[in-house]
Amino acid sequence: MHCVRKVTDDLYWVGANDHRTTLFENIHPIPTGVSYNAYLLLDEQSVLVDTVDWSACRQMMENVEHLLAGKPLDVLLINHMEPDHGASIEEILRRYPQVKIISTPKAFMLMRQFGFDIDGHELVEVREGDTYTFGTHTVTFVEAPMVHWPEAMVTFDVTDGVLFSADAFGSFNALDGKLFADEVDFDRDWLDEARRYLTNIVGKYGPHVQLLLKKAGGIMEQIKYICPLHGPVWRENFEYIVDKYDKWSRYEPEVSGVMIAYASMYGNTEGAAQALAAKLVEKGVRNLAVYDVSNTHVSYLISEAFKYSHIVLASVTYNLGIYPVMHNFLADMKALNLQNRKVALVENGSWACKSGDLMQKFLEEEMKGMTVINQRLSLASAMGEEKEDELEALANAIVDSIIEES
Ligand code: FEO
Repeated sequence: MHCVRKVTDDLYWVGANDHRTTLFENIHPIPTGVSYNAYLLLDEQSVLVDTVDWSACRQMMENVEHLLAGKPLDVLLINHMEPDHGASIEEILRRYPQVKIISTPKAFMLMRQFGFDIDGHELVEVREGDTYTFGTHTVTFVEAPMVHWPEAMVTFDVTDGVLFSADAFGSFNALDGKLFADEVDFDRDWLDEARRYLTNIVGKYGPHVQLLLKKAGGIMEQIKYICPLHGPVWRENFEYIVDKYDKWSRYEPEVSGVMIAYASMYGNTEGAAQALAAKLVEKGVRNLAVYDVSNTHVSYLISEAFKYSHIVLASVTYNLGIYPVMHNFLADMKALNLQNRKVALVENGSWACKSGDLMQKFLEEEMKGMTVINQRLSLASAMGEEKEDELEALANAIVDSIIEES
């Protein structure tokens, strides 16, 4: 059964929702699913813009066949060939052997590397600034390297002002019938998943996202629709999502507030984290979230670290090192290039307490622009009443830092 949505008079969403895959890229949990968006333009030539993951191939095929109503598919335009979008290319080629493929030279190279049987079909290589006309619609191509793979481009339909933005402006979450961002409560239901998607998938490539935003800024007046490869289509309020992307890709905090991430073996470090949270709230901090790194997938921790201006890392010492899950969190923050945060430390160790010094060394020597607040809470096994002054001093130092920054 087909399931399509109209974007404009002659452009349709022909993608699919996926609630079966548990791990996106086999690493990031997607408990609320994900959509793979493909679009079909019915001009004098029919143009399929990108395809979908193999798991969603059948649905996309039914959608395309329904709209083509027996006519051939003329053009397959590939902005991004990563298999969550490109896996169905070969099936399209089998069903529509006369189809012409338009993409970047690097994308064709990667298709061959992945074993896609594209040779023997008409391949049109395009580069930045090239244009192509399908009838009444003319498109221009804009390279978008590392957003999210090196071969990526975005395509702008200058006739209708439609930007096919590839992974940019995408999000986790299945669409489930809704298509446009103005059909959902984005702030309530989508923002966290959009941030988790962007920061974990493209976080490392902030400067490349900035470059693409700069290019998009040059045509912003002409853009009427932004059609990403995951998540909702934008047709209004562009400044909202552009502003979020701008902040995330500049590693600028989205909110002034505190994320407390604790690693606790027997609940004592957790107790200190909770006591600190209570003190901070008493002192007026309202934007605050507490996470147990042992049972929170690191993709959520990364998203929250990108969101907040201040991070508290509370960790036990383990094998004379940082507790492994906290160490993993630090390594992921580094890998995703997170920078320019104020960090406070809580350490614990029943003998040879090392975690504070080691976390500080990691933050200062392995990451960029991480400022460690000069006040630490140091515990030996558990927090007793004698630590009250230290806790108070740490809470005050964090509040002072928040005030100083705002
Ligand atoms: Fe959604 Fe980079 O693929």
